[in-house]
Amino acid sequence: MNPIQEGRVVIVGSGLIGCSWAMVFVSGGFQVTLYDIVQEQVTKALEKIGEQLKELEKIGMLKGSLKADEQLSLIKGCTDLKVAVEGAVYVQECTPENLELKKKIFGQLDLIASNDVILSSSTSCLLPTKLFTGLKHVKQCIVAHPVNPPYYVPLVELVPHPETDPSTLGKTYALMKKIGQTPVKLTKEIDGFVLNRLQYAIISEAWRLVGEGIISPVDLDLVMSDGLGMRYAFIGPLETMHLNAEGMLNYCDRYREGMIRVLKSFGPIPDFAGATEQKINQAMCKETPADPEHLNARRHWRDDCLVRLAKLKKEIKSD
Ligand code: NAI
Repeated sequence: MNPIQEGRVVIVGSGLIGCSWAMVFVSGGFQVTLYDIVQEQVTKALEKIGEQLKELEKIGMLKGSLKADEQLSLIKGCTDLKVAVEGAVYVQECTPENLELKKKIFGQLDLIASNDVILSSSTSCLLPTKLFTGLKHVKQCIVAHPVNPPYYVPLVELVPHPETDPSTLGKTYALMKKIGQTPVKLTKEIDGFVLNRLQYAIISEAWRLVGEGIISPVDLDLVMSDGLGMRYAFIGPLETMHLNAEGMLNYCDRYREGMIRVLKSFGPIPDFAGATEQKINQAMCKETPADPEHLNARRHWRDDCLVRLAKLKKEIKSD
């Protein structure tokens, strides 16, 4: 089978997420046009992608069946949006998280889009109704929210606008699967989508427990990294319930009352400021001082762990 796919993808914005998306799409054999407003930014992004693809090949973590050089040759830079979008099947917008800027860009895309191309945004928290309402091509618009770094963390939340055509959702879902990501469908928009709602629920209780002096910030993080997180890399909270008793119904029978009792004891939403903020900041900075050098070193370590975890998950899947 020819690993090169029909159809070309456009990435709008060649920053952190734009470059990652480009790498994921070429790993799936798609041609990619990487668009940004400044040529220098595009050139730098292409260089960075080239280096990363080579490095991934060296450590045996390059995705897809094409070699690094072949994947790189599928990406072309561009600074003319109209030229970039002409004849494309899918556009993934990755510009800074700013509503006015994104609305302007989707307004421009709306003027030049064909009636088939899918217009997708990587936004972390802007709702589809804020981004797409009033666009002529609203039926073709969708949010496809990745998780950083998308190359190792495959989840993509697909969030439709109320007027998004079901075929747009279906095609985007199929495309994400084709490039090896893990898409999930939301039936309608909700503030924070799903990933951040779960994340904020955890952060909120973590903050209260540390604020009340029940546990230290470092030990709190261990509860996740060496406790809950161990299984969450493989199964979610609902399957955890199913397996932690004789099935889901038995779990609810056994733990329903206890869960409700504990949940009723949760405190109000923290203000994420004041003494608790100082306490948590101090503890975090002791481990990793908040300067670019230390933060980047720790991020590098985290990404390295994710590479190894991704490798393990791949091995387990192909067992
Ligand atoms: P970034 O700041 O690294 O990159 C933004 C890029 O957009 C830059 O290359 C910039 O030159 C370009 N740009 C600015 N104005 C433009 C315009 N008018 N047309 C085309 N390109 C333009 O930002 P990052 O982190 O890559 O984020 C992009 C999007 O992805 C945001 O919506 C963000 O919320 C979302 N996202 C970010 C995640 C993260 O962890 N960084 C995770 C998931 C989603």
